[in-house]
Amino acid sequence: MGQGVLSPAFSRRDGELTCRGVSLEGLAERFGTPLYVYDAQGIAERIQAFHHAFRGVEFLLAYSVKANGNLAILNRIGATGAGADIVSEGELERALRAGIPASRIVFAGVGKTAAEMARALEAGIHAFHVESEEELDLLEEVARARGVQAPVGIRVNPDVESPTPHHYTATGHAASKFGIPVSRAMELYRSGADRPHLRFVGIDVHIGSQIVEVEPYLAALETVLVMVDELRDAGVPLEYLDLGGGFGVGYRGEAGLPLDRLAAVVTKRLRERGLRLILEPGRSIVGEAGVLLTRVLYRKESGGKRFVITDAGMTELLRPSHYGGWHRIVPVIQNADAGAPEVAVDVVGPVCESGDFLALDRPLPLPERGDLLAVGTAGAYGFSMASNYNARRRPAEVLVENSRPLLIRRREEVDDLIRGEVIPPLPTVAAALHSGDPTP
Ligand SMILES: Cc1ncc(COP(=O)(O)O)c(C=O)c1O
Repeated sequence: MGQGVLSPAFSRRDGELTCRGVSLEGLAERFGTPLYVYDAQGIAERIQAFHHAFRGVEFLLAYSVKANGNLAILNRIGATGAGADIVSEGELERALRAGIPASRIVFAGVGKTAAEMARALEAGIHAFHVESEEELDLLEEVARARGVQAPVGIRVNPDVESPTPHHYTATGHAASKFGIPVSRAMELYRSGADRPHLRFVGIDVHIGSQIVEVEPYLAALETVLVMVDELRDAGVPLEYLDLGGGFGVGYRGEAGLPLDRLAAVVTKRLRERGLRLILEPGRSIVGEAGVLLTRVLYRKESGGKRFVITDAGMTELLRPSHYGGWHRIVPVIQNADAGAPEVAVDVVGPVCESGDFLALDRPLPLPERGDLLAVGTAGAYGFSMASNYNARRRPAEVLVENSRPLLIRRREEVDDLIRGEVIPPLPTVAAALHSGDPTP
């Protein structure tokens, strides 16, 4: 088998792209398209890489469920001993049902409701990562009403500029909606002595996503370590430091964030203080382990542009249209004329939006109708951001494990689209009009 084309798992055999030797064309024929295909081995290897890099410190990998919350994926991740970073009650239930113990779950997000807090307290999660003062007050109230103590880490906004590819994915600057500024966070930690229903156990920071440089993490780390030290001196010892997620991957085949370089500093600084480490990687665990398969429906030319219309679009992979996400696109079967000149095409979906595209002005060997394309690095924020817009059915998901393809989510049916909807009886007047009887 040849070298990895999209990632080591996705290599060619006799010109055909496979997932660990399993024919992607075969999977598309069996399960239909669009189709998500994930590589279990790749996910396990990424988790191992984190554990290896951070082996020098007590470490919990809290996988960020938002990246890909499929139950089977969560189950396999949980089976490695990992926990979960969640942002809603729905993600909590997913993680629990997949077998991830509550004691390994941290709960972030700027808009937690009282009901979500109550459920997470009942489940016994590791900690709430609180993002505003009013949220902290509500959490205290909910915990008091239940007669329990809520474990808390404040999500600090360290005011660092993180070099993310799009400003939508930067979260560590003062003007972002995330976290609490340093000085205010310090006051809240100090207020803990008078708040018996809150237990301050940690500190959390997440500066953004798809970051490939180590320095912004180190800047954020130093900011929170100063806080940790001051708090310890003030009699508020913390148990863990959570440095968030956002570790960049190679969408264009480049190297992602150098974990070992980050780990060298983080490990040393945390060990000095006897702090546990939590990280919340999402995309760096599942991103490169997934592809989206899509068939070419039509080609056309207009206004000097060449369009390739595929059966997947923004409803299956929102990243390109939402924040300019760039994904490699390759033919699954290399044509006999492999090496034919590439032409610039817009790869667009069937959704009725001009913003519905997978790639713009992308040089590709012009595909034929019916050709199968693989969109790379689609394991993260692919299915999890998929929608039913235009009443489209969300695709199936397949996990390739030990060279066996396992269907881990069937394609939605029309009944899935209309589940929960109700057509009320027509009001009397309208019913009369409808029936042609003028006297109501
Ligand atoms: C609080 C928090 N933690 C972790 C993540 C995971 O980021 P990534 O998938 O880029 O690792 C996110 C992403 O938005 C997040 O908001």
